[in-house]
Amino acid sequence: MSRPQVFVTRRIPAPALAILEEACDCRVWEYEEELCPPEVLAREMARVHGLLTMATDRIDPAWIAAAPRLRVIANMAVGYDNIPVQAATEHGVLVTNTPGVLDETTADLAFALMLAAARRLYEGQRTIVEGRWKGWYPSFLTGQDVHSATLGIVGAGRIGRAVARRARGFDMRILYHNRRRRPDLEAEVGAEYRSLDDLLRESDFVMVLVPLTPETRGMFGAREFSLMKPTAVFVNVSRGPVVDEAALYDALVTGKIWAAALDVFSEEPVRPDHPLLSLPNVTATPHIGSASVATRLRMATLAAENLVAALTGRRPPTPVNPEVLDRPEWQGEGSQG
Ligand code: GLV
Repeated sequence: MSRPQVFVTRRIPAPALAILEEACDCRVWEYEEELCPPEVLAREMARVHGLLTMATDRIDPAWIAAAPRLRVIANMAVGYDNIPVQAATEHGVLVTNTPGVLDETTADLAFALMLAAARRLYEGQRTIVEGRWKGWYPSFLTGQDVHSATLGIVGAGRIGRAVARRARGFDMRILYHNRRRRPDLEAEVGAEYRSLDDLLRESDFVMVLVPLTPETRGMFGAREFSLMKPTAVFVNVSRGPVVDEAALYDALVTGKIWAAALDVFSEEPVRPDHPLLSLPNVTATPHIGSASVATRLRMATLAAENLVAALTGRRPPTPVNPEVLDRPEWQGEGSQG
């Protein structure tokens, strides 16, 4: 039997590529700084059995319909809002993601952003670099205390739990809002469940960790910001479209909230002239939640393992739509189309 054909949309760490190359013939989009163009992606999808994607690759449902051999899309991300999972399921295409391996690294970044915004680190550096540091005075670059403050976590999944454990070390009171109650989290870190509105009213720091779904798109708008404290810091480490950016800008400019720290934007890469980036009380990073050397290796390895498992007739470790595996075409030996 010929080897499965695979396309990888960005360079990935060598050990992960080696896992793929042992079982498959791989083609890789080699231009690290450049998004794989949609026409290349569509063309490759029509040819291959397996696709390894990044969170930045937006897959069109029509490309799945036009991909006769495609069996699996392995997304190198925990989020999979870039993949039309329903269309994939309808066409018997398995989708996998990389949960679990990035929680602590992403929680580190979330905490770093919270601290940076609260203590005005970005403004501090700019003050020095731009020669505006004139000396020490009592109100100079004063911020908000993180220790002993109230943290409201919206979306208390694995990453939320990792953030909450860090918050305990800062003596923070922890509130959370989630689709379902988390008695384990309440027992482990003393987190208290709140409705979203109550969480927004009571929190000094509001941290967003929900996945992007039709329900969470636009979840934070003018109404939500108006419920928050004027001293509140808003931190988004999930997906940009969860937030109405114009409403956030308005809330920051009019003092409805105090600061924001954002790792994600509605459009990525965000344009440097985006209005939010002109504000001194916005701390921004370029979608680097999981960006440590070790974690990116773990993510790429898990994505490669998922892909190879699916193409060699084994159950992948982390499927998103496992119901596909019950279909007759997935039951036989091997899985090449
Ligand atoms: C990154 O944003 C991810 O979903 O892993």
